[in-house]
Amino acid sequence: PTVYVPRDTAALAVGADEVAQAIQVEAARRGLSIRIVRNGSRGLLWLETLVEVQTERGRVAYGPVTADDVPGLFDAGFLTAGSHPLFHGLTESIPYLARQQRLTFARVGVTDPLCVKDYEKHGGWQGLQKALALTSQQIVDEVKASGLRGRGGAAFPTGVKWQTVLSAQADQKYIVCNADEGDSGTFSDRMLMEGDPYALIEGMTIAALAVGATAGFIFVRSEYPHACATLREAVDRAVQAGWLGDNIQGSGRSFHLEVRMAAGAYICGEETAMLESLEGKRGQVRAKPPLPAIQGLFGKPTVINNAISLATVPFVLANGAQAYAEFGMGKSRGTLPFQLAGNLRQGGLVELAFGVTLRELLYDFGGGSASGKPLRAVQVGGPLGAYLPESEWDVPLDYEAYKDISAMVGHGGVVAFDDTVEMARMARYAMEFCAIESCGKCTPCRIGSRRGVEVIDRIVTAPAGSAIRRQNVELLNDLCDTMVAGSLCALGGMAPYPVLSALRHFPGDFGIVSESSS
Ligand code: NAI
Ligand code: SF4
Repeated sequence: PTVYVPRDTAALAVGADEVAQAIQVEAARRGLSIRIVRNGSRGLLWLETLVEVQTERGRVAYGPVTADDVPGLFDAGFLTAGSHPLFHGLTESIPYLARQQRLTFARVGVTDPLCVKDYEKHGGWQGLQKALALTSQQIVDEVKASGLRGRGGAAFPTGVKWQTVLSAQADQKYIVCNADEGDSGTFSDRMLMEGDPYALIEGMTIAALAVGATAGFIFVRSEYPHACATLREAVDRAVQAGWLGDNIQGSGRSFHLEVRMAAGAYICGEETAMLESLEGKRGQVRAKPPLPAIQGLFGKPTVINNAISLATVPFVLANGAQAYAEFGMGKSRGTLPFQLAGNLRQGGLVELAFGVTLRELLYDFGGGSASGKPLRAVQVGGPLGAYLPESEWDVPLDYEAYKDISAMVGHGGVVAFDDTVEMARMARYAMEFCAIESCGKCTPCRIGSRRGVEVIDRIVTAPAGSAIRRQNVELLNDLCDTMVAGSLCALGGMAPYPVLSALRHFPGDFGIVSESSS
């Protein structure tokens, strides 16, 4: 029988290698012949290490499995779906997974990430095959029609960005994948790269055909060594299989791809700082315009997309723009892989169409708080995203609906906090984060964030109801206005959002007035 043990970083962190080793040893000891496949993660992170066994009825799951559980699993007959306290039945019937709409993550956790044939068997390369038969403009039109928007967080329409690069005249164009996934609580880029690297490679190759680029780079954050290694191996194998490199599938078209490891600065996820870094310079933000789509890497027109945006493109081409656009609401078409983290019982990856509410994610999927205490605040969209009180948990997750409540969906990170959270400390942290990660190029961010930390300190230490406290709250609001209006990039420009949302929704934590909304 075939046994699946994830090789995803989240599983490795809780001992997946030891589990795989123990299964191998125990099977040999019992004279049983088994095949172990190291798959990606299904994204049910609280069940890692999630071991699956292929049975006649389908794949069944056991988890969380530790190396010590392995002899007991064999005793219970887990190779034939034997009953055991860690047994969860058919993997795909586990409600957490069954209720998802997995388009971009359809193969993650299912296939052997590095097996080209397995990828093909599960629908891989079909999008690229279709793209090879289309003109550049037809590919761009298909992506436009799908409604796909940038999944890195800014939600700019992907097809429109590609159009700008296609229309630019140049002897050389580039495709750059931004996989410097720096948002706190997010891991979808990593899971995708480790669990289905060919989807990203295929998406980037389609992008290259769409705009006329012949070279590309994947910029992976330094904290992701496993993703980096998986991608490097996948690139080599894709070249060998003729899906990448020179003369792709005999089409006469070429695309060369290189994996670059970042050096560990949050700001290098900002697209222009990333370009500087790729060019071998210090990661500092460039002024826009010119847009990277016109003058990007080495001054050439460059498509810069997040890993999830690019990995979604094969689905769009293979199934048609309409099939993708059918999911979602308003101008937010398709699905988003939400990442549940923080104080939740069931953290993990949940891919769903836009329109789902935070309450559904927190309770139907997340299972409520891990501590058992009531949830109080949720930060959506990374460290620059707003904190949302319970009164806003029923707003549908949609780019525009979130904008209307001064929040952002961003890259889909959801970090939950229970009622022990101190919101003034969280606000202080946002300013501190900005001060640490600032590239230093502009004053509102470089200096403003430092003053922000000091002002919040003065607010919380001043006597309750005092004039000093009121004055400093006013000062903090002014400072946030200056940072929003005067910063060159999103780091300084958005760091005030968590601060202002904390002030607005949780004023009691700043000793201003008693709370009403939380
Ligand atoms: P932006 O709004 O300036 O740009 C969005 C994208 O559209 C850029 O790639 C820009 O070059 C492109 N663009 C704009 N007009 C265009 C045109 N006419 N033609 C072609 N391309 C065009 O946003 P920015 O500063 O690039 O990103 C900010 C976002 O990044 C935030 O909303 C935040 O959610 C997200 N973010 C994500 C992180 C992560 O780990 N994924 C970390 C930090 C921030
Ligand atoms: Fe650099 Fe901050 Fe200015 Fe962005 S806002 S350019 S990170 S100093």
